Amino acid sequence: MSSKLITLDGPSGVGKTTIGKKLASDLNLDFISSGMIYRAIAAHFNKKGVSTINEINITSKNPIIYKIDGETYQEDELYSPEINKKSSEIAQLLEIRNIVSNILRFLYNSSANGLVVEGRDMGSVVFQDADLKIYLDASEATRSKRRLAQSGSKESIEDIRTRDSRDINRKISPLVVPINALVINNEDMTIEEIIKLIKENLKLQ
Ligand code: DC
Repeated sequence: MSSKLITLDGPSGVGKTTIGKKLASDLNLDFISSGMIYRAIAAHFNKKGVSTINEINITSKNPIIYKIDGETYQEDELYSPEINKKSSEIAQLLEIRNIVSNILRFLYNSSANGLVVEGRDMGSVVFQDADLKIYLDASEATRSKRRLAQSGSKESIEDIRTRDSRDINRKISPLVVPINALVINNEDMTIEEIIKLIKENLKLQ
């Protein structure tokens, strides 16, 4: 692996996407949300009533558009309660995890600048050799509050609990703290403080 790679893992609503996007923009790296790829696949399965895919492409960067077997999906349509649930369910399947992992490795290998990538198994499984591995955590109540503040998301504390439990207890690639990860409990931290701490640790690598 040559270009810079930073992984961000953690449960839902902990701020992985917000922090990842800001970090990537500050460091001039690309940003990818693996959760969004699971969400796009879930949306496709719900829309078409299928459970397999043949081809998936990311066709535009800003905004990111996912094209799956001829259908296109945009990020702002991927936060419905049905997709929250379905994405966590299909993420239990080895075939789906392999598809997503392969896309992510391809995107990293074709990224000129390097990558910030967020998810549940980025540092623990997909990119074990990342330059810096971060695990973000915060209480359920705080994460639920953050999710509700996010536009378009209506995920209650009960929904978050169910999804976290499924993501933590699944057999394949469960959510864990990756080996050698920097753990940041960001309960009482501002985004600027979190970014500063990550940058300081990046300098130590
Ligand atoms: O981060 P998110 O809420 O957008 O992710 C949606 C679902 O996708 C999450 O409940 C579990 C799954 N997921 C996963 O299993 N592994 C990842 N690396 C990212 C997401």
